[in-house]
Amino acid sequence: MPEHTLELKGSLALADGPAGLRLIPGFIRVTGGVLERVEPDPAVGGDDARTIIFPGFIDAHAHLPQFRSVGVAGLELLDWLDAVIFPAESRWADADLAHREAADAARQLLSFGTTAVAAYATVHHSATQRAIDALADAGMAGHVGQVLMDTGAPPRLARPAGDQADALELKPRDRVMPSIAPRFALSCSEELLALAAEMASRTGWLAQTHLAETTAECRAVESRFGVPYTEVYRRAGLLTPRAVLAHGIHLSRADREALARVGAVIAHCPTANEFLRAGRMDRAGTLAAGARLALGSDVAGGPDRSMVRVARAMAMVASRDGGVFVPAAECFRQITAGNADALDLASTGRLAPGLDADLVIVEPDIPWQDHPDPLSLLLYAWDDRWIRRVYAAGRPVFPAR
Ligand code: GUN
Ligand code: FE
Repeated sequence: MPEHTLELKGSLALADGPAGLRLIPGFIRVTGGVLERVEPDPAVGGDDARTIIFPGFIDAHAHLPQFRSVGVAGLELLDWLDAVIFPAESRWADADLAHREAADAARQLLSFGTTAVAAYATVHHSATQRAIDALADAGMAGHVGQVLMDTGAPPRLARPAGDQADALELKPRDRVMPSIAPRFALSCSEELLALAAEMASRTGWLAQTHLAETTAECRAVESRFGVPYTEVYRRAGLLTPRAVLAHGIHLSRADREALARVGAVIAHCPTANEFLRAGRMDRAGTLAAGARLALGSDVAGGPDRSMVRVARAMAMVASRDGGVFVPAAECFRQITAGNADALDLASTGRLAPGLDADLVIVEPDIPWQDHPDPLSLLLYAWDDRWIRRVYAAGRPVFPAR
């Protein structure tokens, strides 16, 4: 066998129907970083089938400069941004420091099985480019945005709207694309939001922002712009199928239907919503309105870097107070193929021939195969120590060598 070929046996986590995922014994063969064969095979049994091969997990919303700020508890969003986050992000004026911190964030994400991410860097152009490079060099896929702000932030982090076109000069590297990231309505003038929409349309890059996370934020937006939050983004031209809007908690049915009509994606961040006491996102109502959903950790608003635990939080929040029970298969589907579709990451998110070999090799230390719902056992009993190896485009990236 040539050296760049890898063959693995196990229970394959295969996408199943529009929303599901199933574990099926079989094998995969990887050549040149790409899945060449993905074959269910009933002959794979015994110990071989105890190992599970998941596609790499995908985090639809995280902040790379915030990995050192996890766990600063007790503050409301707007106070937390001022007291904790803006000072942390200011440090990325030093592009070498930004590179080190982004590389460390990538190392952490990969250790939890996350091989792709839609992330924010900071307002600093060089730091953002270095973050793109660091994630790409670590083997990750995804999108990284230069944060755009011209108001509501310390002067060292805000620039005049017309002075932020350097974001257009970001360069993709390997599997990491730049994105356009106006932080949220409170840190952008109408002019900057419109410029951001134009930049996103000109480049075709993803647009990332935050929407309706807390009631205080919504009140401030409505009083500044004189229209509902969703309408602010619609008028600016930001609502397209390539817009990823984090949180989307405090929305009316009409807002959700408007988002559904344009095909914009809401990145649900249940662990962050709990940690920052932002409120409870109505996932069932959002889906019923026809809106597209993704799922994100929102580090550091969310303290947990594991997408499996974020998915478990999604299920627990959805089922609270007589709410809707989300099957575990749907949870695992969301953090793999679901997020890949939402983020337009067509080369990852599934075990399928022709896709990049982003793989999480899991060996649970508990018997799981005779459980009535194995994926539910795995979701609720999940233990990161079960992650034996992670591959990004066929390259072993965890454990670190
Ligand atoms: N809204 C605007 N910026 C941020 C951020 O960095 N984190 C969270 N959770 N919400 C935001
Ligand atoms: Fe966020």
